[in-house]
Amino acid sequence: MGKIFQIAIDGPSGAGKSTIAKAIARRLGIDYIDTGAMYRALGYKMLQLGITEDETDKVAELLETTEIDFSHGDIILDGQVINNLIRTPEISMKASACSALGIVRKHLVKVQQEMGAKKSVIMDGRDIGTDVFPNARYKFFITATAEERAKRRYRELMEKGENVSYEETLESIIQRDYNDSHREVSPLRKAEDAEEVDTTDMTIDEVISYICDKIEK
Ligand code: DC
Repeated sequence: MGKIFQIAIDGPSGAGKSTIAKAIARRLGIDYIDTGAMYRALGYKMLQLGITEDETDKVAELLETTEIDFSHGDIILDGQVINNLIRTPEISMKASACSALGIVRKHLVKVQQEMGAKKSVIMDGRDIGTDVFPNARYKFFITATAEERAKRRYRELMEKGENVSYEETLESIIQRDYNDSHREVSPLRKAEDAEEVDTTDMTIDEVISYICDKIEK
């Protein structure tokens, strides 16, 4: 494959994007960038500081003074590894809320574009194929029914010992689907030239093989 290229993986919450993207990155020997983790990191910091979405001045200042980066697969916020702190249901909702702000998206999209300009990357999120890298060499839009995604997320949370019910998990998925696809700035939508992969009746391994076959072809 020639020079630097990007692979865009978009789709709704809980479709398995990050597991899929991580495996493909390993297989191709390129970097994986989890853009959702960046919105989560910012949401985490906003919660810590008690900043709400309507305090736009404070959010703008926060963006100027916050450093979000990845190192060896870890998400780093202002020099601290925060992998486990940002995977709670509370941070999921906060990330969804702060990701609706135009100034937040503008800032993080720029950081993501810089990350993907220097080396080949596979990036997952909601707007990678539409806004971050509209010229990505490969674009996939990963979906599954809300019930199937809730089932997967619920299993994950159980394994981590989080105390939630399946119903709450489904409710949260439906709520975030709504938020993410109805916000004014870059709502979640499939790029016209992205290939949709419905994973409802596929295993993660089947999805990974399917996408890798397409890329390696
Ligand atoms: O993929 P995730 O669940 O970790 O993402 C957390 C939230 O961030 C999600 O509700 C949508 C938002 N997000 C976004 O708006 N754009 C992205 N590129 C990635 C995530």
